[in-house]
Amino acid sequence: MQAIVDRTGVKRYLVTLKVNGTVHTRPVKANTLLVDLLREDLDLTGTKKGCELGDCGACTVLVDGEPVNSCLVLAVEADGVEITTIEGVTQDGRLDRVQEAFINHAAVQCGYCTPGMILSAKALLARNPHPTEQEVREAIAGNLCRCTGYVNVVKAILAAANEKANEGIEEGRASNE
Ligand code: FES
Ligand code: FES
Repeated sequence: MQAIVDRTGVKRYLVTLKVNGTVHTRPVKANTLLVDLLREDLDLTGTKKGCELGDCGACTVLVDGEPVNSCLVLAVEADGVEITTIEGVTQDGRLDRVQEAFINHAAVQCGYCTPGMILSAKALLARNPHPTEQEVREAIAGNLCRCTGYVNVVKAILAAANEKANEGIEEGRASNE
């Protein structure tokens, strides 16, 4: 990784990463956190900062498809990876099915935990399209919500999974007709 010294004499490293489909190269300090690179350098403030200790999950992003606490990753460690933040979940200006399910099931209150919850849910549904309630609860165990219980969040994720399953059935019907 290329290192440069900035005007103030601080050594920085050129990090290149793909975020929500766009490649970015930024000079970062050795101790810059991935969450700060995303929020402050790339202006992707949908990723939230809570505890900065890996306890709350507010800073969850997908790194190569896996949910990761971005407050526990140095920006230099993210060189060459592919990242999805909550801004990358929306497709063509339309909310993703998980986002819609959160709205429809009143799973959002202040919304601070919501980006992390949704990204954990997306990762779960990508590897397990038909999760049980227990599997949903396990998938969001690292995402703490201070506003409410988890009942509506779990309902929303299960509804998004069912919607996907129903869509598959509909598609199957259409192709058989
Ligand atoms: S801010 Fe990263 S886990 Fe809490
Ligand atoms: S909705 Fe407020 S922290 Fe979860």
